[in-house]
Amino acid sequence: MDSFEYRDNRLHCENVLLSKVAEEFGTPTYVYSRDAIELAYLAYANALQGRDDMVCFAIKANSNLAVLNILARLGAGFDVVSQGGLQRGLESGGRADRVVFSGVSKQSSEIRYALQAGIHCFNIESAAELERINSVAEQMAMLAPISFRVNPNVDAGTHPYISTGLKENKFGIAIEDAPRLYQHAASLKHVKIIGMDCHIGSQLTEIAPFMDAMDKLLALIDTLETQGISIKHLDLGGGLGVCYTDEVPPTPQQYIDAVLDKIADRELTLIFEPGRSIVANAGVLLSEVEYLKHNESKNFAIVDAAMNDMLRPALYSAYLDILPLQINDSQEFQEYDVVGPVCETGDFLGKDRRLNIVAGDLLAVCSAGAYGFTMSSNYNTRTRAAEVMVDDNKSYQIRARETFADLIKGEKILPQD
Ligand code: LLP
Repeated sequence: MDSFEYRDNRLHCENVLLSKVAEEFGTPTYVYSRDAIELAYLAYANALQGRDDMVCFAIKANSNLAVLNILARLGAGFDVVSQGGLQRGLESGGRADRVVFSGVSKQSSEIRYALQAGIHCFNIESAAELERINSVAEQMAMLAPISFRVNPNVDAGTHPYISTGLKENKFGIAIEDAPRLYQHAASLKHVKIIGMDCHIGSQLTEIAPFMDAMDKLLALIDTLETQGISIKHLDLGGGLGVCYTDEVPPTPQQYIDAVLDKIADRELTLIFEPGRSIVANAGVLLSEVEYLKHNESKNFAIVDAAMNDMLRPALYSAYLDILPLQINDSQEFQEYDVVGPVCETGDFLGKDRRLNIVAGDLLAVCSAGAYGFTMSSNYNTRTRAAEVMVDDNKSYQIRARETFADLIKGEKILPQD
């Protein structure tokens, strides 16, 4: 996390003191580094330099308009899984023709909206969805650009909840069914086959599963070619891992070099849908220690961020570093479970962390830029956190902290009888 570092024992994001951000905007607050986001995106873009490929940021990882805008300005496309995601992408300044629409269940209204907007491609995940897209396009007298998300049945070797390329997952179409479905699609009047895609899982720390998937997809592309179906782009999804603790995932450059090697001289354009590897280490979640509590066998640091702000530890037992904003030698180190105020035993941000803290201290939950804010909720009637973007020595609030009025907006009580 080079954009986050200690100087004089105080944690900075770029050239901004994080304790100042907490002071100005309160806690819990997500803070992102513009520089880190740009560098991570450019690692992909530069590795693909000179080619006509697309890097479509997976909006689900972080959908704040300012984040999307920074990426759109660099030429990123977007991978969306809902109409809302597409609207966000467009609202942020992204181009519709650089959007791919993924997800197992696209509603007719969403398909209509995306066709009208002129997206690059629908990533189709079932036979039924193909029929629906064809029929919506027919009603609109349009041609829908499509790709099938093929499930190559490879083990991504990652957490079962975020592994998606195995037969038993709900995602994609079975590779054995692909030739038949592509043939059928070729016979439909309102879809145009342009691609093939896969997404085998998230937080992959090895290149091998990507290569296994590619071998299978390239063989399928060759088979289709002999049947007169030509595939223009290969979308390899997202999934490249990041370092949370001691993982050493391949860099985008290493990954893309291996991909380009395998593509060799085929005339395929590539699409990538990275989410985590663009934003995870570009963000932290700031939180204040409310109370220290000592039970017979455990010490708890009760902080003002909770599972509703950052769900990953509770849902996946994800490990996120927790650092003090100010390194301080005056207290003694103790092992704490860092927990939030939500009424669930699963409400923790970290377990058994060695910290020397007192109530009132500020902490940063690290690697929080991906699947942090976007998975947050209002559970326990808690307002969602503020979001701040740091750019060199300036910080901008890019989302206001929610208010109680926001929480009850749209709710109504029954009239008195
Ligand atoms: N494309 C598709 C079709 C996806 O389903 C995903 C993520 C991505 C791209 C982006 O994958 P990434 O590059 O971020 O690995 N909430 C979980 C992660 C769920 C990933 C879902 N799909 C977590 O916090 O670890």
